Amino acid sequence: MLRPLVLAALVAAAPAPGQTLDDRHLPVIPRTAAETARIAKVLTPPEDFTGPEPFEANPAGAATVRARATADAFSLSSANMPFGREMAFKLGNALFRKTWVAAPSSTLASDGLGPLYNARACQDCHLKDGRGHPPEGPQDARVSMFLRLSRPAETPEAAAAGIAEWIATRPDPVYGGQLQDLAAPGHAAEGRMEVDYTDEPVTLADGTVVTLRRPTYAISNPGYGPLPADLMISPRVAPQMIGLGLLEAIPAADILAHEDPDDADGDGISGRAQIVPSARYGVPMLGRFGLKAGKPTVEEQSAGAFSGDMSLSTPLHPDPWGECTAAQPACRSAPHGQEPGIRDGLEVDAESLDLVAFYSRNLGVPERRNIDDPQVLQGKGVFHALNCTGCHVPKHVTHRLKGQPEQSFQLIWPYTDLLLHDMGPGLADGRPEGRATGSEWRTPPLWGIGLTATVSGHTQFLHDGRARSLSEAILWHGGEAQAARDGFAALTKADRDALIAFLESL
Ligand code: HEC
Ligand code: HEC
Repeated sequence: MLRPLVLAALVAAAPAPGQTLDDRHLPVIPRTAAETARIAKVLTPPEDFTGPEPFEANPAGAATVRARATADAFSLSSANMPFGREMAFKLGNALFRKTWVAAPSSTLASDGLGPLYNARACQDCHLKDGRGHPPEGPQDARVSMFLRLSRPAETPEAAAAGIAEWIATRPDPVYGGQLQDLAAPGHAAEGRMEVDYTDEPVTLADGTVVTLRRPTYAISNPGYGPLPADLMISPRVAPQMIGLGLLEAIPAADILAHEDPDDADGDGISGRAQIVPSARYGVPMLGRFGLKAGKPTVEEQSAGAFSGDMSLSTPLHPDPWGECTAAQPACRSAPHGQEPGIRDGLEVDAESLDLVAFYSRNLGVPERRNIDDPQVLQGKGVFHALNCTGCHVPKHVTHRLKGQPEQSFQLIWPYTDLLLHDMGPGLADGRPEGRATGSEWRTPPLWGIGLTATVSGHTQFLHDGRARSLSEAILWHGGEAQAARDGFAALTKADRDALIAFLESL
Protein backbone atom coordinates (compact mmCIF):
# COMPACT_ATOMS: atom_id res chain seq x y z
CA MET A 1 0.00 0.00 0.00
CA LEU A 2 2.75 2.40 0.95
CA ARG A 3 5.69 0.98 -0.98
CA PRO A 4 4.42 1.61 -4.51
CA LEU A 5 3.51 5.17 -3.61
CA VAL A 6 6.93 5.94 -2.20
CA LEU A 7 8.77 4.10 -4.95
CA ALA A 8 6.81 5.95 -7.61
CA ALA A 9 7.97 9.23 -6.11
CA LEU A 10 11.58 8.14 -6.24
CA VAL A 11 12.37 6.96 -9.72
CA ALA A 12 15.50 9.11 -9.84
CA ALA A 13 18.29 6.87 -8.53
CA ALA A 14 17.98 3.21 -9.42
CA PRO A 15 18.91 0.91 -6.53
CA ALA A 16 21.35 -1.98 -6.89
CA PRO A 17 19.78 -5.46 -6.91
CA GLY A 18 18.74 -6.36 -3.35
CA GLN A 19 18.80 -2.71 -2.34
CA THR A 20 15.70 -0.57 -2.04
CA LEU A 21 15.72 3.19 -2.30
CA ASP A 22 15.56 3.29 1.48
CA ASP A 23 19.16 2.06 1.54
CA ARG A 24 20.44 5.01 -0.48
CA HIS A 25 22.62 6.09 2.44
CA LEU A 26 24.65 2.87 2.16
CA PRO A 27 27.38 1.81 -0.32
CA VAL A 28 25.76 -1.60 -0.86
CA ILE A 29 27.38 -4.57 -2.58
CA PRO A 30 24.45 -6.79 -3.67
CA ARG A 31 24.07 -10.21 -2.05
CA THR A 32 24.47 -13.28 -4.23
CA ALA A 33 21.66 -15.83 -4.44
CA ALA A 34 23.80 -18.28 -2.48
CA GLU A 35 24.30 -15.68 0.28
CA THR A 36 20.59 -14.94 0.42
CA ALA A 37 19.85 -18.64 0.93
CA ARG A 38 22.54 -18.96 3.59
CA ILE A 39 21.21 -15.89 5.43
CA ALA A 40 17.66 -17.25 5.45
CA LYS A 41 18.97 -20.39 7.11
CA VAL A 42 21.00 -18.49 9.71
CA LEU A 43 18.00 -16.33 10.61
CA THR A 44 15.65 -19.28 11.23
CA PRO A 45 14.47 -19.21 14.89
CA PRO A 46 16.01 -21.89 17.11
CA GLU A 47 14.04 -24.92 18.24
CA ASP A 48 16.51 -26.13 20.80
CA PHE A 49 17.07 -24.06 23.93
CA THR A 50 19.42 -26.46 25.72
CA GLY A 51 22.49 -24.59 24.52
CA PRO A 52 23.41 -21.27 22.93
CA GLU A 53 23.15 -20.78 19.15
CA PRO A 54 26.30 -20.41 17.08
CA PHE A 55 27.68 -16.83 17.22
CA GLU A 56 25.12 -15.78 19.86
CA ALA A 57 27.91 -14.64 22.20
CA ASN A 58 28.78 -11.81 19.78
CA PRO A 59 25.68 -9.63 19.34
CA ALA A 60 27.45 -7.28 16.92
CA GLY A 61 29.33 -9.96 14.98
CA ALA A 62 32.95 -9.00 14.42
CA ALA A 63 32.22 -5.49 15.73
CA THR A 64 31.44 -6.91 19.22
CA VAL A 65 33.60 -5.51 22.02
CA ARG A 66 34.55 -7.16 25.29
CA ALA A 67 32.13 -6.62 28.17
CA ARG A 68 33.89 -4.31 30.59
CA ALA A 69 32.43 -4.29 34.09
CA THR A 70 32.81 -0.51 34.32
CA ALA A 71 30.79 2.56 33.37
CA ASP A 72 32.84 2.68 30.15
CA ALA A 73 31.27 -0.53 28.84
CA PHE A 74 29.45 1.31 26.01
CA SER A 75 32.36 3.55 25.05
CA LEU A 76 34.64 1.22 23.08
CA SER A 77 34.85 1.44 19.28
CA SER A 78 33.70 -1.38 16.96
CA ALA A 79 36.25 -4.19 17.47
CA ASN A 80 36.71 -4.65 13.70
CA MET A 81 37.40 -0.97 13.02
CA PRO A 82 40.61 -0.63 10.98
CA PHE A 83 43.42 0.96 13.01
CA GLY A 84 43.61 3.90 10.59
CA ARG A 85 40.16 5.07 11.64
CA GLU A 86 40.91 5.36 15.31
CA MET A 87 41.74 9.04 14.94
CA ALA A 88 38.33 9.73 13.35
CA PHE A 89 36.63 7.90 16.24
CA LYS A 90 38.62 9.92 18.79
CA LEU A 91 37.85 13.22 17.07
CA GLY A 92 34.18 12.25 16.89
CA ASN A 93 34.27 11.36 20.57
CA ALA A 94 35.80 14.74 21.39
CA LEU A 95 32.97 16.50 19.54
CA PHE A 96 30.37 14.30 21.27
CA ARG A 97 31.82 15.28 24.65
CA LYS A 98 32.54 18.89 23.80
CA THR A 99 30.85 21.50 25.98
CA TRP A 100 29.48 24.30 23.79
CA VAL A 101 29.22 27.89 25.01
CA ALA A 102 27.02 30.80 23.96
CA ALA A 103 28.35 33.26 21.40
CA PRO A 104 30.16 35.54 21.38
CA SER A 105 33.01 33.99 23.32
CA SER A 106 36.78 33.80 23.18
CA THR A 107 36.60 30.10 22.38
CA LEU A 108 35.43 30.66 18.82
CA ALA A 109 35.53 27.00 17.85
CA SER A 110 33.07 26.06 20.61
CA ASP A 111 30.57 28.87 20.54
CA GLY A 112 27.09 29.15 19.13
CA LEU A 113 25.14 27.30 21.82
CA GLY A 114 21.54 28.45 22.13
CA PRO A 115 20.35 31.01 22.99
CA LEU A 116 17.68 28.37 23.78
CA TYR A 117 18.93 24.85 24.41
CA ASN A 118 18.45 21.58 26.30
CA ALA A 119 22.05 20.67 27.01
CA ARG A 120 25.61 21.84 26.30
CA ALA A 121 26.97 18.54 24.99
CA CYS A 122 25.72 15.34 23.36
CA GLN A 123 27.29 13.47 26.25
CA ASP A 124 25.19 15.38 28.83
CA CYS A 125 22.15 13.41 27.65
CA HIS A 126 23.67 10.20 26.31
CA LEU A 127 25.54 9.81 29.60
CA LYS A 128 28.59 7.54 29.20
CA ASP A 129 27.17 6.71 25.73
CA GLY A 130 24.30 5.06 27.60
CA ARG A 131 20.78 6.23 28.32
CA GLY A 132 19.57 9.23 30.27
CA HIS A 133 17.02 9.27 33.09
CA PRO A 134 14.07 11.26 34.42
CA PRO A 135 14.76 13.88 37.10
CA GLU A 136 15.17 12.35 40.54
CA GLY A 137 13.24 15.02 42.39
CA PRO A 138 11.68 18.45 41.95
CA GLN A 139 15.09 20.20 42.11
CA ASP A 140 17.01 17.77 39.88
CA ALA A 141 18.12 18.98 36.42
CA ARG A 142 16.03 17.80 33.48
CA VAL A 143 19.05 17.42 31.28
CA SER A 144 19.03 13.92 29.81
CA MET A 145 15.32 13.97 29.01
CA PHE A 146 13.12 16.47 27.18
CA LEU A 147 9.63 17.11 25.84
CA ARG A 148 8.80 17.13 22.15
CA LEU A 149 5.88 19.44 21.29
CA SER A 150 3.34 19.79 18.54
CA ARG A 151 -0.15 20.90 17.65
CA PRO A 152 -2.82 19.21 15.57
CA ALA A 153 -2.77 20.59 12.04
CA GLU A 154 -4.95 20.60 8.99
CA THR A 155 -2.15 20.87 6.47
CA PRO A 156 -0.13 17.67 6.25
CA GLU A 157 3.46 18.81 6.11
CA ALA A 158 4.65 15.79 4.16
CA ALA A 159 1.66 15.18 1.92
CA ALA A 160 3.63 16.69 -0.92
CA ALA A 161 6.29 14.06 -0.42
CA GLY A 162 3.67 11.36 -0.91
CA ILE A 163 3.93 9.66 2.47
CA ALA A 164 0.82 7.54 2.95
CA GLU A 165 -0.88 7.67 6.36
CA TRP A 166 1.15 10.70 7.44
CA ILE A 167 -0.54 12.23 10.47
CA ALA A 168 -0.78 15.98 10.23
CA THR A 169 0.77 17.91 13.09
CA ARG A 170 2.82 21.08 13.18
CA PRO A 171 5.34 22.52 15.60
CA ASP A 172 3.81 25.03 18.00
CA PRO A 173 4.11 28.45 16.29
CA VAL A 174 5.69 29.93 19.45
CA TYR A 175 7.44 27.09 21.29
CA GLY A 176 8.43 25.02 18.24
CA GLY A 177 8.87 21.25 18.25
CA GLN A 178 10.74 20.84 21.51
CA LEU A 179 10.75 22.50 24.92
CA GLN A 180 14.15 24.12 25.48
CA ASP A 181 14.40 24.49 29.23
CA LEU A 182 17.74 26.31 29.32
CA ALA A 183 18.71 29.70 27.91
CA ALA A 184 21.76 31.92 27.53
CA PRO A 185 21.98 34.94 29.87
CA GLY A 186 19.41 37.59 28.95
CA HIS A 187 17.01 35.08 27.37
CA ALA A 188 14.00 33.39 28.97
CA ALA A 189 13.96 29.60 28.93
CA GLU A 190 10.84 28.09 27.38
CA GLY A 191 9.70 26.47 30.60
CA ARG A 192 10.32 23.55 32.86
CA MET A 193 9.15 19.97 32.54
CA GLU A 194 7.27 18.79 35.61
CA VAL A 195 6.62 15.12 36.25
CA ASP A 196 4.46 13.54 38.93
CA TYR A 197 4.05 9.84 39.62
CA THR A 198 1.09 7.84 40.91
CA ASP A 199 1.69 4.34 42.25
CA GLU A 200 -0.26 1.49 40.66
CA PRO A 201 0.17 -1.93 42.19
CA VAL A 202 -0.13 -4.93 39.86
CA THR A 203 -0.65 -8.44 41.24
CA LEU A 204 1.00 -11.25 39.26
CA ALA A 205 -0.47 -14.75 38.98
CA ASP A 206 1.71 -16.10 41.79
CA GLY A 207 0.64 -13.32 44.17
CA THR A 208 3.75 -11.17 43.78
CA VAL A 209 2.90 -7.46 43.80
CA VAL A 210 4.85 -5.10 41.50
CA THR A 211 4.19 -1.38 41.89
CA LEU A 212 4.24 0.63 38.66
CA ARG A 213 4.57 4.43 38.74
CA ARG A 214 2.34 6.22 36.24
CA PRO A 215 3.75 9.59 35.21
CA THR A 216 1.89 12.78 34.34
CA TYR A 217 3.69 15.64 32.64
CA ALA A 218 3.20 19.38 32.73
CA ILE A 219 5.18 22.49 31.81
CA SER A 220 5.72 25.18 34.43
CA ASN A 221 7.02 28.75 33.99
CA PRO A 222 6.31 29.08 30.28
CA GLY A 223 8.67 31.83 29.09
CA TYR A 224 6.87 32.93 25.92
CA GLY A 225 3.22 33.32 26.83
CA PRO A 226 0.55 30.85 27.85
CA LEU A 227 0.67 27.32 26.47
CA PRO A 228 -2.15 26.43 24.08
CA ALA A 229 -4.76 23.97 25.35
CA ASP A 230 -4.21 21.60 22.43
CA LEU A 231 -0.43 21.34 22.89
CA MET A 232 0.71 17.71 22.52
CA ILE A 233 3.77 16.73 24.54
CA SER A 234 5.98 13.67 24.27
CA PRO A 235 8.51 12.89 27.00
CA ARG A 236 11.75 11.28 25.75
CA VAL A 237 14.76 9.98 27.62
CA ALA A 238 18.00 9.87 25.62
CA PRO A 239 18.57 6.26 24.48
CA GLN A 240 21.84 4.29 24.60
CA MET A 241 24.23 4.83 21.68
CA ILE A 242 25.65 1.35 20.96
CA GLY A 243 25.47 -0.55 17.66
CA LEU A 244 23.71 2.24 15.76
CA GLY A 245 25.75 1.82 12.56
CA LEU A 246 24.71 -1.82 12.43
CA LEU A 247 21.03 -0.92 12.79
CA GLU A 248 21.53 1.54 9.96
CA ALA A 249 23.04 -1.25 7.80
CA ILE A 250 20.12 -3.70 8.07
CA PRO A 251 18.65 -3.98 4.56
CA ALA A 252 15.42 -1.94 4.38
CA ALA A 253 13.78 -4.85 2.59
CA ASP A 254 14.47 -7.11 5.58
CA ILE A 255 12.84 -4.61 7.95
CA LEU A 256 9.83 -4.20 5.67
CA ALA A 257 9.49 -7.99 5.45
CA HIS A 258 8.49 -8.00 9.14
CA GLU A 259 5.62 -5.54 8.57
CA ASP A 260 2.19 -7.07 9.07
CA PRO A 261 -0.09 -4.01 9.16
CA ASP A 262 -3.31 -6.02 8.93
CA ASP A 263 -2.03 -8.78 11.23
CA ALA A 264 -2.36 -11.39 8.51
CA ASP A 265 -0.73 -14.05 10.70
CA GLY A 266 -3.22 -13.39 13.52
CA ASP A 267 -0.67 -13.15 16.35
CA GLY A 268 -2.01 -9.77 17.48
CA ILE A 269 1.19 -8.04 16.39
CA SER A 270 1.18 -5.85 13.31
CA GLY A 271 4.22 -3.63 13.04
CA ARG A 272 4.42 -0.77 10.54
CA ALA A 273 7.32 0.98 8.94
CA GLN A 274 7.91 4.62 9.81
CA ILE A 275 8.45 6.70 6.64
CA VAL A 276 9.86 10.21 7.03
CA PRO A 277 11.19 12.97 4.81
CA SER A 278 15.00 12.90 4.61
CA ALA A 279 16.75 16.24 5.09
CA ARG A 280 19.88 14.84 3.40
CA TYR A 281 18.32 13.19 0.35
CA GLY A 282 15.13 15.24 -0.04
CA VAL A 283 12.94 12.15 -0.40
CA PRO A 284 10.86 9.95 1.92
CA MET A 285 12.88 7.20 3.62
CA LEU A 286 12.39 4.39 6.10
CA GLY A 287 12.71 5.85 9.63
CA ARG A 288 14.99 3.91 11.97
CA PHE A 289 16.27 6.25 14.72
CA GLY A 290 14.56 8.05 17.56
CA LEU A 291 11.89 6.57 19.80
CA LYS A 292 9.25 6.83 17.07
CA ALA A 293 11.81 6.18 14.33
CA GLY A 294 11.50 9.79 13.19
CA LYS A 295 14.92 9.93 11.49
CA PRO A 296 16.25 7.75 8.66
CA THR A 297 19.98 7.84 9.43
CA VAL A 298 22.43 8.38 12.27
CA GLU A 299 23.68 11.49 10.49
CA GLU A 300 20.21 13.06 10.31
CA GLN A 301 19.50 12.21 13.95
CA SER A 302 22.82 13.80 14.95
CA ALA A 303 22.22 16.95 12.88
CA GLY A 304 18.73 17.15 14.40
CA ALA A 305 20.29 16.98 17.87
CA PHE A 306 22.80 19.75 17.12
CA SER A 307 19.94 21.95 15.96
CA GLY A 308 17.08 21.01 18.31
CA ASP A 309 18.99 20.26 21.52
CA MET A 310 21.82 22.80 21.33
CA SER A 311 20.75 25.27 18.60
CA LEU A 312 23.91 24.66 16.56
CA SER A 313 23.84 24.89 12.76
CA THR A 314 25.04 22.08 10.45
CA PRO A 315 24.85 21.65 6.67
CA LEU A 316 21.47 19.90 7.17
CA HIS A 317 19.99 22.57 9.46
CA PRO A 318 21.81 25.83 8.65
CA ASP A 319 19.81 28.15 10.93
CA PRO A 320 22.11 29.22 13.79
CA TRP A 321 19.15 29.75 16.14
CA GLY A 322 18.14 26.10 16.01
CA GLU A 323 14.40 25.78 16.28
CA CYS A 324 13.63 29.22 17.73
CA THR A 325 10.45 30.41 16.03
CA ALA A 326 9.60 33.73 14.41
CA ALA A 327 7.61 34.43 17.59
CA GLN A 328 10.91 34.40 19.53
CA PRO A 329 12.67 37.33 17.78
CA ALA A 330 15.22 37.96 20.55
CA CYS A 331 16.44 34.41 20.13
CA ARG A 332 16.68 34.70 16.36
CA SER A 333 18.62 37.95 16.45
CA ALA A 334 21.03 36.98 19.26
CA PRO A 335 24.74 36.66 18.46
CA HIS A 336 25.59 33.28 16.99
CA GLY A 337 28.75 31.30 16.38
CA GLN A 338 29.12 31.36 12.64
CA GLU A 339 31.31 33.66 10.57
CA PRO A 340 31.55 33.78 6.78
CA GLY A 341 34.56 31.77 5.63
CA ILE A 342 35.07 29.98 8.95
CA ARG A 343 33.90 26.37 9.25
CA ASP A 344 31.85 26.64 6.03
CA GLY A 345 30.01 29.54 7.67
CA LEU A 346 28.38 27.10 10.09
CA GLU A 347 28.66 26.43 13.81
CA VAL A 348 29.24 22.72 13.08
CA ASP A 349 30.77 22.17 9.64
CA ALA A 350 30.32 19.16 7.35
CA GLU A 351 33.53 17.53 8.53
CA SER A 352 32.55 17.80 12.19
CA LEU A 353 29.08 16.38 11.51
CA ASP A 354 30.74 13.49 9.64
CA LEU A 355 33.02 12.78 12.58
CA VAL A 356 30.18 12.80 15.10
CA ALA A 357 28.11 10.51 12.87
CA PHE A 358 31.09 8.17 12.44
CA TYR A 359 31.54 8.05 16.21
CA SER A 360 27.82 7.48 16.75
CA ARG A 361 27.82 4.60 14.27
CA ASN A 362 30.77 2.90 15.89
CA LEU A 363 30.13 2.54 19.60
CA GLY A 364 30.61 -1.18 20.15
CA VAL A 365 28.05 -3.61 21.50
CA PRO A 366 29.52 -5.67 24.38
CA GLU A 367 29.64 -9.46 24.22
CA ARG A 368 26.97 -11.47 26.04
CA ARG A 369 27.60 -12.81 29.54
CA ASN A 370 26.55 -16.22 30.92
CA ILE A 371 25.00 -17.42 27.66
CA ASP A 372 25.33 -21.07 28.61
CA ASP A 373 23.98 -20.65 32.14
CA PRO A 374 20.94 -22.99 32.42
CA GLN A 375 18.74 -20.22 33.87
CA VAL A 376 19.63 -17.85 31.02
CA LEU A 377 18.85 -20.57 28.47
CA GLN A 378 15.53 -21.25 30.21
CA GLY A 379 14.77 -17.51 30.06
CA LYS A 380 15.61 -17.44 26.36
CA GLY A 381 13.05 -20.21 25.88
CA VAL A 382 10.45 -18.14 27.76
CA PHE A 383 11.31 -15.05 25.63
CA HIS A 384 10.55 -17.06 22.51
CA ALA A 385 7.50 -18.85 23.98
CA LEU A 386 5.86 -15.53 24.97
CA ASN A 387 6.51 -14.22 21.43
CA CYS A 388 8.55 -11.30 22.67
CA THR A 389 10.40 -12.05 19.41
CA GLY A 390 7.32 -10.87 17.45
CA CYS A 391 8.74 -7.34 17.92
CA HIS A 392 12.14 -7.82 19.54
CA VAL A 393 13.37 -9.77 16.46
CA PRO A 394 16.59 -11.41 17.63
CA LYS A 395 18.82 -11.53 14.54
CA HIS A 396 19.53 -9.72 11.30
CA VAL A 397 22.34 -9.82 8.73
CA THR A 398 23.63 -6.43 7.62
CA HIS A 399 24.30 -5.39 4.02
CA ARG A 400 27.69 -6.06 2.48
CA LEU A 401 29.17 -2.56 2.21
CA LYS A 402 31.99 -0.91 0.29
CA GLY A 403 34.40 1.01 2.52
CA GLN A 404 32.40 0.48 5.70
CA PRO A 405 34.03 -2.69 7.08
CA GLU A 406 32.74 -2.15 10.64
CA GLN A 407 29.14 -2.69 9.58
CA SER A 408 29.60 -4.90 6.53
CA PHE A 409 27.91 -8.31 6.39
CA GLN A 410 27.59 -9.08 10.09
CA LEU A 411 25.18 -11.42 11.82
CA ILE A 412 23.80 -9.17 14.57
CA TRP A 413 21.47 -9.76 17.54
CA PRO A 414 19.82 -6.41 18.39
CA TYR A 415 16.39 -7.79 19.40
CA THR A 416 14.39 -5.24 17.43
CA ASP A 417 12.41 -5.10 14.16
CA LEU A 418 12.82 -1.28 14.00
CA LEU A 419 9.08 -1.10 13.31
CA LEU A 420 6.29 0.89 15.01
CA HIS A 421 3.88 -0.90 17.32
CA ASP A 422 0.76 0.25 19.13
CA MET A 423 1.70 -0.24 22.79
CA GLY A 424 -1.71 0.63 24.21
CA PRO A 425 -3.07 3.60 26.19
CA GLY A 426 -0.75 3.10 29.18
CA LEU A 427 2.36 4.04 27.20
CA ALA A 428 0.67 6.42 24.73
CA ASP A 429 1.99 9.98 24.54
CA GLY A 430 -0.91 11.12 22.35
CA ARG A 431 1.51 12.91 20.05
CA PRO A 432 1.77 11.51 16.52
CA GLU A 433 5.08 11.77 14.68
CA GLY A 434 5.22 11.09 10.95
CA ARG A 435 3.18 7.95 10.40
CA ALA A 436 3.39 6.95 14.06
CA THR A 437 0.20 7.45 16.04
CA GLY A 438 0.08 8.76 19.60
CA SER A 439 0.28 5.20 20.91
CA GLU A 440 2.94 3.76 18.61
CA TRP A 441 6.61 3.39 19.49
CA ARG A 442 9.57 1.87 17.68
CA THR A 443 10.70 -1.44 19.20
CA PRO A 444 13.89 -0.51 21.05
CA PRO A 445 16.95 -2.74 20.64
CA LEU A 446 17.58 -4.85 23.74
CA TRP A 447 21.29 -5.51 23.20
CA GLY A 448 23.35 -4.18 26.08
CA ILE A 449 20.26 -3.70 28.27
CA GLY A 450 21.76 -5.95 30.96
CA LEU A 451 24.64 -3.50 31.35
CA THR A 452 22.39 -0.49 32.05
CA ALA A 453 23.13 -0.50 35.79
CA THR A 454 26.87 -0.82 35.11
CA VAL A 455 26.97 2.06 32.61
CA SER A 456 24.22 4.34 33.90
CA GLY A 457 24.01 3.48 37.59
CA HIS A 458 20.26 2.97 37.34
CA THR A 459 17.72 0.58 35.82
CA GLN A 460 15.11 2.97 34.44
CA PHE A 461 13.57 1.87 31.17
CA LEU A 462 11.03 2.78 28.47
CA HIS A 463 10.73 6.01 26.48
CA ASP A 464 10.36 8.17 29.59
CA GLY A 465 12.25 6.11 32.16
CA ARG A 466 9.07 5.35 34.13
CA ALA A 467 9.96 1.66 34.64
CA ARG A 468 12.38 1.10 37.51
CA SER A 469 13.20 -2.49 36.59
CA LEU A 470 12.98 -4.86 33.65
CA SER A 471 9.84 -6.42 35.19
CA GLU A 472 8.13 -3.04 35.38
CA ALA A 473 9.10 -2.36 31.76
CA ILE A 474 7.43 -5.60 30.63
CA LEU A 475 4.32 -4.97 32.73
CA TRP A 476 3.80 -1.60 31.00
CA HIS A 477 3.49 -3.38 27.62
CA GLY A 478 -0.06 -3.23 26.21
CA GLY A 479 -1.75 -2.94 22.82
CA GLU A 480 -0.07 -5.28 20.37
CA ALA A 481 2.07 -6.55 23.26
CA GLN A 482 -0.85 -7.24 25.62
CA ALA A 483 -0.62 -11.03 25.15
CA ALA A 484 3.13 -10.99 25.85
CA ARG A 485 2.56 -8.85 28.95
CA ASP A 486 -0.24 -11.11 30.22
CA GLY A 487 1.93 -14.15 29.53
CA PHE A 488 4.68 -12.61 31.65
CA ALA A 489 2.27 -11.84 34.51
CA ALA A 490 1.10 -15.48 34.43
CA LEU A 491 4.60 -17.02 34.66
CA THR A 492 5.84 -19.00 37.62
CA LYS A 493 8.48 -17.20 39.67
CA ALA A 494 11.14 -19.53 38.28
CA ASP A 495 10.27 -18.72 34.65
CA ARG A 496 9.97 -15.01 35.43
CA ASP A 497 13.39 -14.96 37.09
CA ALA A 498 14.80 -16.91 34.14
CA LEU A 499 13.41 -14.38 31.63
CA ILE A 500 14.95 -11.51 33.61
CA ALA A 501 18.27 -13.41 33.83
CA PHE A 502 18.17 -13.77 30.03
CA LEU A 503 17.53 -10.03 29.55
CA GLU A 504 20.37 -9.26 31.96
CA SER A 505 22.71 -11.40 29.85
CA LEU A 506 22.02 -9.24 26.76
C1 HEC B 1 18.96 17.09 25.51
C2 HEC B 1 19.33 15.72 25.46
C3 HEC B 1 20.05 15.23 24.22
C4 HEC B 1 21.17 15.75 23.63
C5 HEC B 1 21.97 16.98 24.02
C6 HEC B 1 21.48 14.87 22.54
N1 HEC B 1 20.59 13.86 22.46
FE1 HEC B 1 20.61 12.35 21.11
N2 HEC B 1 18.82 11.74 21.79
C7 HEC B 1 18.10 12.31 22.82
C8 HEC B 1 16.76 11.80 22.82
C9 HEC B 1 15.65 12.17 23.80
C10 HEC B 1 16.68 10.90 21.75
C11 HEC B 1 15.42 10.20 21.24
C12 HEC B 1 14.89 11.19 20.22
C13 HEC B 1 13.52 10.94 19.67
O1 HEC B 1 12.85 10.00 20.06
O2 HEC B 1 13.12 11.70 18.80
C14 HEC B 1 18.00 10.86 21.13
C15 HEC B 1 18.35 10.04 20.08
C16 HEC B 1 19.61 10.01 19.49
C17 HEC B 1 20.03 9.06 18.48
C18 HEC B 1 19.21 7.89 17.96
C19 HEC B 1 19.37 6.68 18.86
C20 HEC B 1 18.40 5.58 18.58
O3 HEC B 1 18.48 4.53 19.23
O4 HEC B 1 17.52 5.74 17.74
C21 HEC B 1 21.30 9.42 18.10
C22 HEC B 1 22.14 8.77 17.03
C23 HEC B 1 21.65 10.59 18.86
N3 HEC B 1 20.61 10.90 19.71
C24 HEC B 1 22.83 11.28 18.73
C25 HEC B 1 23.09 12.48 19.37
C26 HEC B 1 24.22 13.33 19.06
C27 HEC B 1 25.29 13.04 18.03
C28 HEC B 1 24.13 14.41 19.88
C29 HEC B 1 25.00 15.65 19.92
C30 HEC B 1 25.09 16.36 18.66
C31 HEC B 1 22.95 14.21 20.70
N4 HEC B 1 22.34 13.04 20.36
C32 HEC B 1 22.55 15.08 21.69
C33 HEC B 1 18.58 13.26 23.71
C34 HEC B 1 19.68 14.05 23.47
C1 HEC C 1 4.15 -5.61 20.12
C2 HEC C 1 5.59 -5.46 20.16
C3 HEC C 1 6.31 -5.89 21.41
C4 HEC C 1 6.26 -7.10 22.07
C5 HEC C 1 5.43 -8.32 21.71
C6 HEC C 1 7.16 -6.97 23.18
N1 HEC C 1 7.75 -5.74 23.18
FE1 HEC C 1 9.09 -5.06 24.52
N2 HEC C 1 8.95 -3.21 23.73
C7 HEC C 1 8.23 -2.87 22.62
C8 HEC C 1 8.23 -1.43 22.45
C9 HEC C 1 7.59 -0.67 21.31
C10 HEC C 1 8.94 -0.92 23.54
C11 HEC C 1 9.18 0.56 23.87
C12 HEC C 1 7.97 1.09 24.64
C13 HEC C 1 8.19 2.45 25.29
O1 HEC C 1 9.33 2.91 25.40
O2 HEC C 1 7.21 3.06 25.71
C14 HEC C 1 9.41 -2.07 24.31
C15 HEC C 1 10.24 -1.98 25.43
C16 HEC C 1 10.78 -3.08 26.09
C17 HEC C 1 11.77 -3.01 27.14
C18 HEC C 1 12.44 -1.74 27.63
C19 HEC C 1 13.54 -1.36 26.67
C20 HEC C 1 14.26 -0.08 26.97
O3 HEC C 1 15.31 0.15 26.35
O4 HEC C 1 13.79 0.74 27.77
C21 HEC C 1 12.01 -4.30 27.54
C22 HEC C 1 12.96 -4.74 28.61
C23 HEC C 1 11.15 -5.16 26.75
N3 HEC C 1 10.43 -4.38 25.88
C24 HEC C 1 11.06 -6.54 26.90
C25 HEC C 1 10.07 -7.30 26.32
C26 HEC C 1 9.78 -8.67 26.69
C27 HEC C 1 10.54 -9.49 27.70
C28 HEC C 1 8.72 -9.06 25.93
C29 HEC C 1 7.96 -10.37 25.99
C30 HEC C 1 7.38 -10.69 27.27
C31 HEC C 1 8.37 -7.95 25.07
N4 HEC C 1 9.19 -6.90 25.36
C32 HEC C 1 7.38 -7.97 24.12
C33 HEC C 1 7.58 -3.75 21.78
C34 HEC C 1 7.25 -5.05 22.12
